[in-house]
Amino acid sequence: LIKKIKENLQDLDGQEVVLQGWVRTNRKSKNLGFIELNDGSSFNGMQVVYFPEMDDYEEVKKITTGSAIEVTGKIVLTPESKQPAEIQASKIEILGMADHEYPLQKKRHSFEYLREIPHVRPRANTYYAMFRLRSVLAMAIHTFFQDRGYVYVHTPEITGNDAEGAGECFTVTTRTDQDWEKDFFAKHAQLTVSGQLHVEPFALTYRNVYTFGPTFRAENSNTTRHASEFWMIEPEMAFADLSDNMDVIEDMIKYCINYVLEHAPEEMEFFEKVIDKECINRIKHVAGSDFKRMTYTEAIEELKKAADQFENKDIFWGMDLQSEHERYICEKVVQGPVFLTDYPKDIKAFYMRENEDGKTVAACDLLVPYVGELVGGSQREERYDVLEQKMKDMGMELEPLQWYLDLRRFGGCKHSGFGLGFDRMLMYLSGVQNIRDVQPYPRTPRNLIF
Ligand code: 4AD
Ligand code: MG
Repeated sequence: LIKKIKENLQDLDGQEVVLQGWVRTNRKSKNLGFIELNDGSSFNGMQVVYFPEMDDYEEVKKITTGSAIEVTGKIVLTPESKQPAEIQASKIEILGMADHEYPLQKKRHSFEYLREIPHVRPRANTYYAMFRLRSVLAMAIHTFFQDRGYVYVHTPEITGNDAEGAGECFTVTTRTDQDWEKDFFAKHAQLTVSGQLHVEPFALTYRNVYTFGPTFRAENSNTTRHASEFWMIEPEMAFADLSDNMDVIEDMIKYCINYVLEHAPEEMEFFEKVIDKECINRIKHVAGSDFKRMTYTEAIEELKKAADQFENKDIFWGMDLQSEHERYICEKVVQGPVFLTDYPKDIKAFYMRENEDGKTVAACDLLVPYVGELVGGSQREERYDVLEQKMKDMGMELEPLQWYLDLRRFGGCKHSGFGLGFDRMLMYLSGVQNIRDVQPYPRTPRNLIF
């Protein structure tokens, strides 16, 4: 309601309203009091003024931060003050008083402290802004793909395949022994690490599709950019090559930037003010410029020149890039988003299409400053024989993925896709540095609160 009021202020001067919400602050001076009320509809709340003539004035003065109240009052325009309008209360009813253990007080709390209390954390400014931004960004993603005719596919969370072949799966079981034959699904079941393999059949049906859902990885890396449960958007496009793939990624990211600037302006202004002074300028600039493209081989040359400054100084063709290397490329060499392409086949997943050189694959990672890898994608190996040989060379069992191979002989064609880390995109947009602060209930190693 507060949002509606603010949008229609000129027509509402003098109108009676009833508002429900939560108290941000309650300041009392001698002859009147001020409550900053938040009703969840907009980032900035509304000022409620109350006077000694009001019933229960003494009780209202005692209302604590965090309490739920109902305010009946009059909208009054206040053009000469900081806020363009306020509510002059005639009645304030206490619906639920926050007691003295309420964990949020007026002072700034550390993110570490707030992570311990996920049940009240959304009411703290940074999170209040973040979780709405999260919702708005989800809408941006859907709108982008739906407007372009992509079909949204729900790939399973429980699966029998480790799509990335990295062995970082959580097992799903009802047993304590490891007798999978007697288990619920009578086989080894796991939480999905990626919807890609399951979405490819749909791309070979609808042409353009996307998944958008949670994925799970048991990576035991305790970093600020890895979560055990995170959301991923995985589009897949038939008849598209690697270059088409990068075009979609670039368009999608620019679209998302413009969308959140338009649909979450107060939240973005907050992040600019409190988290990262450059965040709005930076993403506006990104939305207005072309993303660079660079091969892995070129990146290795750049890294060799700067080898001294890395913790890992041993730079050679064929190595997997560490995050310090990725960040150097996008922060120092390019100073903006950059696609790295054509990685050595030995450090990438089995399904990526082998290039003519026999050494590299048609992969693209999008690296962005401050976050590092934001997107991972590739053109897929559509040649049955090449894919089969690759899987054998990698020592993979063919039988569990025979269906995936078979797609290559049931009307297979050139196709490409990618995975965007939704949580990392939020970090990139807001400047928030830790993935634990963009997720409502973060799951990381040795950390499962509620
Ligand atoms: O590069 P990844 O592993 O690619 C895939 O899973 C492919 N199957 C995608 C595809 O082609 N359909 O993951 C994609 C993105 C990464 O670039 C990163 O942004 C994010 O997912 N990501 C994580 N985000 C948070 N926590 C983690 N542990 C993540 N692992 C990957
Ligand atoms: Mg990757």
